[in-house]
Amino acid sequence: MRLVLLGPPGAGKGTQAGIICKRLDIPHISSGDMFRQAIKEGTELGRRAEQYMQSGNLVPDAVTVGLVQERLSKSDCRRGFLLDGFPRTVPQAEALDAWLEDRNERLEAVIDIEVPREELLRRLTGRRICSQCGATYHLQYNPPREAGKCDICGGELIQRDDDTAATVEKRLNVYREQTEPLVLYYRRRGLLREIDGSGDITAVTTAIGAALGRDW
Ligand code: AP5
Ligand code: ZN
Repeated sequence: MRLVLLGPPGAGKGTQAGIICKRLDIPHISSGDMFRQAIKEGTELGRRAEQYMQSGNLVPDAVTVGLVQERLSKSDCRRGFLLDGFPRTVPQAEALDAWLEDRNERLEAVIDIEVPREELLRRLTGRRICSQCGATYHLQYNPPREAGKCDICGGELIQRDDDTAATVEKRLNVYREQTEPLVLYYRRRGLLREIDGSGDITAVTTAIGAALGRDW
């Protein structure tokens, strides 16, 4: 399956992507994770992306499109993929369409996870990630077994640089202005599946499964 996950910061895209990709056995391609990895490794790409991410702005389309296309060209994507956080602008969506068309491929569905703004703020400010493996937790909704430590690798849990109150506000505004037009873009193409993302993690997974015709 070739899927896109759409939704505002904190909607639960990364959380659901992890679950969906395991069930469908397809690669999870997160542009945000790729940028964070590049920053950690101190690469040229990381240096270019960092200033945009820390201020809550989008990394320029030319940089992002090239990065994602390179990843999609890898052989593991032939059996399908799930894009998380890409596309995020109309030009990115058009570039993806053109890239797929060149290969005689198409998206099967775009899952749009919708969550009210106050809940997004709670999810983002309470989020903690593992400094080692990147796993995501939440202080109340999805706490680790031992405070401050990753269940998977024992790594220290930290707050993401862009999860501060001011940057979160900026990211939500950027989403509304630059990414929300994609809802209409994909609805017009008959690909949009709107999901109520305000329930707990299991309820959201079940709703996504139903939208994809699976009994999850
Ligand atoms: P990115 O990493 O894509 O971040 P985002 O879209 O802002 O999304 P988040 O990762 O913040 O949220 P999420 O929806 O994945 O939620 P999560 O599952 O973690 O992008 C970061 C930056 O990179 C951008 O600002 C931009 O600068 C750059 N960038 C990336 N892609 C780009 C692109 N295509 N073009 C240009 N720039 C780009 O969940 C949030 C919290 O809630 C967690 O703590 C989780 O445990 C909890 N939670 C999840 N689900 C539930 C639930 N159902 N109930 C209760 N709690 C829940
Ligand atoms: Zn970890």
